Amino acid sequence: MCGIVGYVGPQDAPPLLIEGLARLEYRGYDSAGLAVLTDRDKLRVVKQAGRVRELVEHLPPGFGGHTGIGHTRWATHGPATDVNAHPHTDATGRVAVVHNGILDNAYELRARLAADGVELVSDTDTEVIAHLVGRSQAATLQEKVAEALGQVHGTWGLAVLHADHPGEIVAARNGSPLILGVGNGEMYVASDLAAIVRHTTTVVLLDDGELASVTERGFSTTGGKAAAEIDVDPAAYETGEHESFMLKEILEQPETAARVLQGRLDDRFGTTHLGGLEMTPHESRAFRRVKVLGCGSAYYVGEMGAGLIEELARIPAHAEPASEFRYRNPIVERDTLYVAVSQSGETLDTLLAVEEIKRKGGRVIGLVNVVGSAIARACDGGIYLHAGPEVAVASTKAVTNMFLGFALLALHLGRVRDLSVADGKRLVKGLEELPEKIAEVLETQDRLAEVADELAKAESLFFIGRVRGYPVAREGAQKFKEISYRHAEAYPASELKHGPLALISPTMPTVVIVPDDDLASRNVGALEEIAARGGPLVVITQPGVDLGGVQVTRIDVPASEVELAPILLTIPLQLLAYQAALALGHDIDKPRNLAKSVTVE
Ligand code: AGP
Repeated sequence: MCGIVGYVGPQDAPPLLIEGLARLEYRGYDSAGLAVLTDRDKLRVVKQAGRVRELVEHLPPGFGGHTGIGHTRWATHGPATDVNAHPHTDATGRVAVVHNGILDNAYELRARLAADGVELVSDTDTEVIAHLVGRSQAATLQEKVAEALGQVHGTWGLAVLHADHPGEIVAARNGSPLILGVGNGEMYVASDLAAIVRHTTTVVLLDDGELASVTERGFSTTGGKAAAEIDVDPAAYETGEHESFMLKEILEQPETAARVLQGRLDDRFGTTHLGGLEMTPHESRAFRRVKVLGCGSAYYVGEMGAGLIEELARIPAHAEPASEFRYRNPIVERDTLYVAVSQSGETLDTLLAVEEIKRKGGRVIGLVNVVGSAIARACDGGIYLHAGPEVAVASTKAVTNMFLGFALLALHLGRVRDLSVADGKRLVKGLEELPEKIAEVLETQDRLAEVADELAKAESLFFIGRVRGYPVAREGAQKFKEISYRHAEAYPASELKHGPLALISPTMPTVVIVPDDDLASRNVGALEEIAARGGPLVVITQPGVDLGGVQVTRIDVPASEVELAPILLTIPLQLLAYQAALALGHDIDKPRNLAKSVTVE
């Protein structure tokens, strides 16, 4: 949540830093700033509230240097103001720090510094690091930073400049991601590959607790790390011909869905090959319960996944928001399989839940998209989602691959238990057909745009479904509210008559999810209740479903194996949210108040 980029080398740093920040803006976009060391070893800082493009407009003439750091912020301590924007400096103006993370003892340190006569100018926790580095008497910059970090508790990915140590950036990581990029006679520091991928794909992934000193001649880390080449297509970080990352990522789904399934389906035995689980069949059989943990959309897919596991493997499975789990002193059982779900692999609530489980001796696997991310590393094994980089704040292709990851897991757990070969083969075939069916759903884009235009006019909407359809409704409502800023509330269709029906009126549309399953006729009952009260209805359903005579706007996704219907029913909801936000003229990739990776509790 907050993006960091740093450069040291022969080129003028600001244009590279600005380019990097623009690519990192999805991590936070309420303020931005740069610090450079000039050729006369002076530190210059420019920072302000607002987007990176506004910062560019306010760069002072001659703002340049060959060593620099930049930051794009998502406010935690103090509002989004010019003063609270990073970089933060010490009292002498010779030290500059950019930071992603949270310091738990910031108030205590601020009080201590203030008692020592230091004037703190911002509301941030980060500023204390700048003062602590500035006050350190250690010889090298790395030692100064280490000494400062020895006094703080919390999480950080940070980069530090010091006018007394020209041509050097010191970087440190603890809980917030940070990488080094190795160029030709130049070096980069970044919170995320997106910032530097156009310049280098030779990187060093820092570990928690590790510090690095970076100059144009190279780098050294306290962990003795070497650089490695990573296989990534820089085009994944571009919108290309599309007007937004969200649309691009929605449209990529037939291809990305095929990728998570590739090499993992076994037609012959109707099962899956999931070497990354690091689990023997004997161990897989021994679990008596499954607990899924994730946040936001990852949690809603977790609910779909828990349903699938219960259905295919007949093991009690339940999803819970990872953000709540740790705070209720959870009972961690040896015969429960814990599953952490995350696109970024950075979400702090999910990471802390994983750590809590491990501390109590539980076994956790991860369904994670970002390879080598903190959650992936903290888990005992898992299934990588292979959705490719997801840049839009609203998660789409990763959500789809999370569902498919659960389908693979459920099939595996089912086949080591009582799921028959025939059912296994039926589901393998169903999974193989899904990418093509997703492509068919995407063909209904124009029709969905018309429906979305109407929905966007409503201030408030319901999204409802039953059993399989309910987590789909929850994810649909989440996506809709996230980028359209409309009030979208998900409800189990069966619960409507127990209260919320009171809200139904001609100005309150309801989006109803009706899979072609044995609850379809019951769903029709709910439709009738809403129609009778004048509520407009949009029904996302499948060809076999008879909606009777109820007046609705009907959108069909292709027929599928019943267990796999949730993901096909989710895709039109992504497009409805996208088109509604477009109709309302919102910034689709960077919705207000949000950020892509939530690395705070
Ligand atoms: C999804 O559209 C949201 N932006 C958000 O709910 C997200 O799914 C959640 O913050 C979890 O992120 P993760 O998958 O990276 O852990």
